[in-house]
Amino acid sequence: MALQLGDIAPDFEQDSTEGTLKLHEWADGKWVVLFSHPKDFTPVCTTELGTVAKLKPEFDKRNVKVVALSVDDVDSHKKWAGDIEETQSTKLNFPILADPDRKVASLYGMIHPKANDTLTVRSVFVIDPNKKVRATFTYPASTGRNFQELLRLIDSLQLTDSHSVATPADWKDGDDVVIVPSLQDPDVLAKKFPKGFKAVRPWLRLTPQPNK
Ligand code: BEZ
Repeated sequence: MALQLGDIAPDFEQDSTEGTLKLHEWADGKWVVLFSHPKDFTPVCTTELGTVAKLKPEFDKRNVKVVALSVDDVDSHKKWAGDIEETQSTKLNFPILADPDRKVASLYGMIHPKANDTLTVRSVFVIDPNKKVRATFTYPASTGRNFQELLRLIDSLQLTDSHSVATPADWKDGDDVVIVPSLQDPDVLAKKFPKGFKAVRPWLRLTPQPNK
């Protein structure tokens, strides 16, 4: 069965551009983004890896470690890294897993046979410090992912954990957020949301983003 939200992210040991990587140990109590690429030396993947390398300070700020995966071997990844560096004007600053035996791809359901029998689709897994899968999304090989959206998603997950709020459609950092419906105690509401809130409906309550 496919991995579902709330599942523990399966642990594995696999070779990478930064040596053997054991996922749970490597996570080191941080958030993890694990994202797959169909193949080395492909144009869309190359732009994605360059984009993520440039965003490293944004992931660091959020306490997130990033690891990519492609089904080719480490030698191929290392050669590809040189091309990424030259064409995207950035150094790779996170590991790429080598998965020629499809061990990790199978564990995480990254191969969708009706799309392609042997190559991974563009899967993303956001894993929290308790090793739980908190979000996933999947794009086809032909569409590069929006990594600003990934950062927005992480911001939303972290706000939910820290402040019991949810984020509405098209929310951006700094916009009003939604108080989760399970919070009803007036004393708790007053304590958690000292700036107050607007009840558009009893079940639709907006409040200024609490960590701003
Ligand atoms: C790419 O990364 O450009 C790509 C990979 C596989 C199929 C199509 C595009």
